Amino acid sequence: MDDAVYPDPSFGSAEETEALRAAAAADPVGFWADRAAELEWFEPWDKVLDDSNPPFYKWFTGAKTNIVHNCIDRHLAGPYKNKLALIWVGENGTDYRTFSYFSLDREVNQMANVIKAMGVGKGDKVTIYLPRIPEVMFAMLACAKLGAVHSVIFAGFSADALTDRIDDSESKLVITADGSWVNGEIFPLKDIVDAGIRFSPTVENVIVVKRTGQDVHMDALRDHWYHDLTALPIANGKCATEHVDAEDPLFILYTSGSTGKPKAILHTHGGYMVGTYTTLKYTFDIRDEDRWWCTADPGWVTGHSYLVYGPLLNGATAFMFEGGPTYPYPNRWWQLIEYYGITTFYTAPTAIRSLMRFGDAWPNRHDLSSLRLLGSVGEPINPEAWQWFHRVIGKGRCPIMDTWWQTETGMFQICPTPSMPLKPGSAGKPFFGQEVEILDDAGQPVADGEEGFLVLKNPQPAMLRTLYKDDERYVNTYWSKYPGKYLAGDSARRDADGYLWVIGRTDDVIKVSGHRLGTAEVESALVSHPAVAEAAAIGLPHDVKGNAIHAYVVLRMGYEPSQQLAEEIRKHISVHLSPIAKPDWIDFTEKLPKTRSGKIMRRVLKARALGQDEGDLTTLED
Ligand code: WT7
Repeated sequence: MDDAVYPDPSFGSAEETEALRAAAAADPVGFWADRAAELEWFEPWDKVLDDSNPPFYKWFTGAKTNIVHNCIDRHLAGPYKNKLALIWVGENGTDYRTFSYFSLDREVNQMANVIKAMGVGKGDKVTIYLPRIPEVMFAMLACAKLGAVHSVIFAGFSADALTDRIDDSESKLVITADGSWVNGEIFPLKDIVDAGIRFSPTVENVIVVKRTGQDVHMDALRDHWYHDLTALPIANGKCATEHVDAEDPLFILYTSGSTGKPKAILHTHGGYMVGTYTTLKYTFDIRDEDRWWCTADPGWVTGHSYLVYGPLLNGATAFMFEGGPTYPYPNRWWQLIEYYGITTFYTAPTAIRSLMRFGDAWPNRHDLSSLRLLGSVGEPINPEAWQWFHRVIGKGRCPIMDTWWQTETGMFQICPTPSMPLKPGSAGKPFFGQEVEILDDAGQPVADGEEGFLVLKNPQPAMLRTLYKDDERYVNTYWSKYPGKYLAGDSARRDADGYLWVIGRTDDVIKVSGHRLGTAEVESALVSHPAVAEAAAIGLPHDVKGNAIHAYVVLRMGYEPSQQLAEEIRKHISVHLSPIAKPDWIDFTEKLPKTRSGKIMRRVLKARALGQDEGDLTTLED
């Protein structure tokens, strides 16, 4: 147990924090009503929680709001008007832009004016496929301002992945860039968009932000440079912030599930706003003088909730860095922390492990004394990485907030508070107002210390409302195994002190470097290669990535296994799904273990690869 004393959080002492936790446990709905009252609403709610039709919970029904009003508009009338909202640094280290709340408002108005002129309005879907540059934030906020629904796709996904997601969301506009910088090289975003929307029945316009500057193809009718559009008179002036219902959709975000196509997680304005505001405030003790750095990309939920919306809702100063941690040298992040005086730093275990490998000398060259709090998210953090982060980066002074949550939950669900004693590797306790159960297969709570299925008991405001266009899959995936309770898809145990230890996924989702991938997606990309007849993908433990993909491939007649073919298949995955999905190993095999009904038994493949007992094989086909 690490119980180094942290000064009292700005919202109250350790005792007050625990009193608030107890009060929230006694009356979760009251807790959320009080938090919501800290924000501004155009019209008040009739009901805080409408639970008349579970699991389709609604929050703040009857209320009118807009998340952008609370992220930007309300700050313009107060002391934060000229405070920095965003500090951005380019990968090359010399590009640098800052935005106060005042100038962020100008940028968002401009973007909103432009997309409104293109016919985007309330309820319309817009796909955003941008690098980590300020325009990704402007684009998300511009959509929200108009009541349009954004669908951000991580700018590392391939054209095929774009096609699936753009078609499914029925986006009429795509906002992209000519390219993105990845370790000094250009990743050709615009070319990928061109390929991805070639046959799109819905996309009418593409806006292209100039970032990398190489020549790109521009379709005269469909494609528009953003800088040309903002030079037009229509871009000037204020664009009204739409008054939307609290339950109106804010965004959809695609994430991987156990089976089939990615799931479109749907979040709404009101509840998501209250949830991300509150969780960031209490977990990271946001203070006026903070410089908050969340290293996540806006293409993932962490970037949505804690790089874009959460910090702005709290009137904080967010830091955004275009590049990665090791380019050109492994001191890049530490250098930025020192130079910009970062106070609160939120990153992923895989990044910590990869930086740890380069040794202590890199961080030790920098003055990291501005840091006050650290955070971790994406997968369980192993105690060695936790200790290194704590000792070498936090100098033993900075508590680590290990936050467990999901694209679905929208906000932290299990996490410590800064004033509570920490256990390396444990994500602490359920957030205020939440209750967690660890159940066995039959739905009975397991004893302390035993592993079981992680289940959330209470509805909470930032929880997904449904899967876009698929209520049935929503109910089946999350609410059917234990009716009335939310099945997270993870296994966990609780210790005698009430601390939770998340172990990992229990389904066919693999966390690779914190990125969420489904075996089904990887397998379908594998079999799209002409040489591949059948394929199975599993995740195996990896020192840096947490898990790495191991693919088993049955070749079509006429193809022979070879090193070269394996390399070609790996490249195929990279191009047809994403570089993050590239298998580390490819094994050619004659046959895959299957059940008699033809389902691949990945469990058996995994046990074999790890040299473990293969378990019950009675259902194996032969
Ligand atoms: C899955 C959700 C939500 C932020 C990014 C990931 C794993 C996430 C932790 C943590 C142990 C964690 C779980 C979860 N996970 N954070 N602190 N400790 N596991 O969102 O891509 O929707 O993935 O990530 O397995 O179910 P996501």
